[in-house]
Amino acid sequence: MSYVITDACIDYTDKSCIEECPVDCIYEGSRKLYIHPAECIDCGACEPVCPVEAIVEARDADDEQEKFVTGDSRFFLEPLPGRDASLGKPGGSKAVGAIGVDIELVAEWPRS
Ligand code: F3S
Ligand code: F3S
Repeated sequence: MSYVITDACIDYTDKSCIEECPVDCIYEGSRKLYIHPAECIDCGACEPVCPVEAIVEARDADDEQEKFVTGDSRFFLEPLPGRDASLGKPGGSKAVGAIGVDIELVAEWPRS
């Protein structure tokens, strides 16, 4: 199991987590960031630096957070809006840059 970024990140996107990740597996959507579940090495370095406590271990996700466990996977496994192919395993977010789109769950998340 990996770590996962939950709803508290939406429209906040502090990005401190990116600087902490030793394997560069945190990718930028539009309104939220996403942890690649297969590239994450479960080191836990990102979790304490998020000012809104958006990052949790997937196995500790509560019922509300569980949809983001699935969602972070779908961000990589399914073609995102406007793309023909899935991101798959890019091997590092710096190489691909900001993706700029979100999964439907996040794109349709109510704005506060
Ligand atoms: Fe989001 Fe927190 Fe990272 S707000 S961008 S998960 S530091
Ligand atoms: Fe990266 Fe470690 Fe978090 S691998 S996504 S900093 S748990």
